[in-house]
Amino acid sequence: MTAMTAPRTTRVVNADAAAATEAARVLAAGGLVAFPTETVYGLGADATGGEAVARLYEAKGRPRFNPLIAHVADAAAAQKLARFNADALLLADAFWPGPLTLVLPKAPQCPVAALATAGLDTIALRVPDHAVARAILAAFGKPVVAPSANRSGHVSPTRAEHVAADLAGRIDLIVDGGPTRLGVESSIVACLDAPVLLRPGAVTRAAIEARLGRRLAEAPAARADEEKAPLAPGMLARHYAPRTPLRLDAARVEEGEALLAFGAAPVEGFERAVATLNLSPRGDLVEAAANLFAHLRALDSSGARKIAVIPVPHQGLGEAINDRLARAASR
Ligand code: TXA
Ligand code: MG
Repeated sequence: MTAMTAPRTTRVVNADAAAATEAARVLAAGGLVAFPTETVYGLGADATGGEAVARLYEAKGRPRFNPLIAHVADAAAAQKLARFNADALLLADAFWPGPLTLVLPKAPQCPVAALATAGLDTIALRVPDHAVARAILAAFGKPVVAPSANRSGHVSPTRAEHVAADLAGRIDLIVDGGPTRLGVESSIVACLDAPVLLRPGAVTRAAIEARLGRRLAEAPAARADEEKAPLAPGMLARHYAPRTPLRLDAARVEEGEALLAFGAAPVEGFERAVATLNLSPRGDLVEAAANLFAHLRALDSSGARKIAVIPVPHQGLGEAINDRLARAASR
């Protein structure tokens, strides 16, 4: 019932002109493509496709849904996805294309899937400075989310062989563009109010501050690699959480509750529910992950007193889904 991902054949191609077209084709079909950037290899998926993003988390083996960076071909494409304040405009102008990621308020019409931003109202954006990455982004024409192309807990890959060692059999395509130039991830700066350095990276603090003409505030616990040293929840990215309390592992619906269902089994008292949404009527964890944040938001605004959540299996992506449900419930 809870679909396990079938092993995939991973093709490796050299980064020539045909590779960008092929990568765009695989992305459009919901597939996973590893490609080089100037920092590290990224594992790309169509940012606007919830199920493609869910498969990406599954392939990485991430036990939780961290928000991802949306990569675009140029600043004009980025400006369609987020609101840029004066600091953001200055930094984009100075460092894009390049190893700087900006965290900005999501634009109202932003087509990036809720799962990719972990349900947040903000979005991380970057224009990579790498001919292969930019050719793929231009050919695809839509934003591509791309975490570092390693299994969760491993170090970031700087060569196609590192990607293959970690992810062969779990992704569709590796575009081999040789070793990456910088080898350390992008610096991440949030421009929400005062600019904050969320992750030190390839652009130095001094260079960023020089452009801004002011100091960067420090994130509570910014670390170079949150996968090696996991951050406490909410420290790097504030987590989305519904205002309505959640009741987990519910067996029935009580008066005044909304219902977040999973699978086809009938739920006792379902007719009482103020509103009902099903994460995946067919019991598929990829589909459930893709729907999670959008369904939570919708039920949160249903006026229900509580949201009753039907148990979700813990295997595969279920671990991340349950992690996120537990966080949403524990506030
Ligand atoms: O150099 C890089 O940035 C590489 C290449 C592939 O582009 N990508 C990369 O992605 O390092 P990843 O997923 O390994 O790291 C993304 C970081 C995470 O620490 C995540 O928490 C943060 O970006 N992030 C993403 N969206 C965020 C948001 N809305 N608010 C705060 N932090 C965010
Ligand atoms: Mg990473």
